[in-house]
Amino acid sequence: MAFIRSVIRGVGAYLPAKVLTNDDISKIVDTSDEWIRERTGIEQRHIAADGELTSDLGIAASRQALVRAGIDPVDIDLVVCATSTPDRTFPATAVRIQAGLGISKGAAFDVQAVCSGFVYALAIADNFLRSGQFKRAIVVGAETFSRILDWSDRGTCVLFGDGAGALVLEAQTQLGNRDDRGILSTTIRSDGRFEELLYVDGGPGSTKTTGHLRMNGREVFRHAVQKISGVIEETLVETGYAPDEVDLYVPHQANKRILDGIAKRLNISPDRIMYTLAKHGNTSAASIPLALNVAFEARRLSERKLILMEAMGGGLTWGAALARW
Ligand code: UT7
Repeated sequence: MAFIRSVIRGVGAYLPAKVLTNDDISKIVDTSDEWIRERTGIEQRHIAADGELTSDLGIAASRQALVRAGIDPVDIDLVVCATSTPDRTFPATAVRIQAGLGISKGAAFDVQAVCSGFVYALAIADNFLRSGQFKRAIVVGAETFSRILDWSDRGTCVLFGDGAGALVLEAQTQLGNRDDRGILSTTIRSDGRFEELLYVDGGPGSTKTTGHLRMNGREVFRHAVQKISGVIEETLVETGYAPDEVDLYVPHQANKRILDGIAKRLNISPDRIMYTLAKHGNTSAASIPLALNVAFEARRLSERKLILMEAMGGGLTWGAALARW
């Protein structure tokens, strides 16, 4: 029976030119390269230049993904941008990306699920494409977290970085079985009882300010290992794959110890996991598409590879997506 799938046609990414090393940060707060590397696996992060906005990062990443897909921007009818650092409170950063790419048809909107944003955006775009409402989508994860960090809080400012990544998806008719190309399954979850573990202490409707990121790192860490392991297991059971049938795990990059903890729990070999946090830090919604781009450029994403993306973030929100490249 014919079945519509969202097939991945292209990937792209953009990182701001400025690099901030752990040693650079140790001149701002009381920390050290040794502490940051040992506790997180992070060595450096990229920081957007003055005047370089989330939409600029998203446009650059989308352009690269479109070129690689061989698709003209005018043929895109859906732009979904996952971000927690929009250029403005409104309009959505996605419409600025849409305009920047020269697209004036279809729809563009943002998705706000913090570090899980890309998985959420992928799930939403996939549902629109499979329903037949849109034909070709760009799903972007773009962030400038450097602008919402408290640069006097060593517990958080050492963790995050700026960047963007994008995927171009196209609705294509497939056979409807597990050998299909494209997105095979998405699972998204949230539990607002845990809001106080990770949030920004401002907003237009409360303080009328932007606010700064606040986090109970130890508790978030504990939930991350638990919830991400759970959603990976759910995804594999639902789709009938064993953990070692997944060619590449492309996780949200928050902390190397979180990724190692999940790998140990689920018995996943580290050589099947993309680790990019050493060079990118935690780029929130951008981290999965940035990691996909590194995997693509390293030739680890040839056609038909089975990939599993997962994330957990503020909300709490979490989720996973299984796709065949
Ligand atoms: O993107 C999704 C959301 N984010 C996450 O998933 C992050 C989850 N959490 C984490 O990655 C970790 O909890 C952190 C990396 C944030 C912290 O690591 P930890 O092993 O949980 O450290 P901790 O917060 O328990 O702090 C241990 C010690 C404390 O000192 P005392 O009280 O033991 O004397 C902190 O004050 O480390 C101290 N500390 C630091 N020392 C040097 C905290 N931050 C720093 C720092 N440099 N940057």
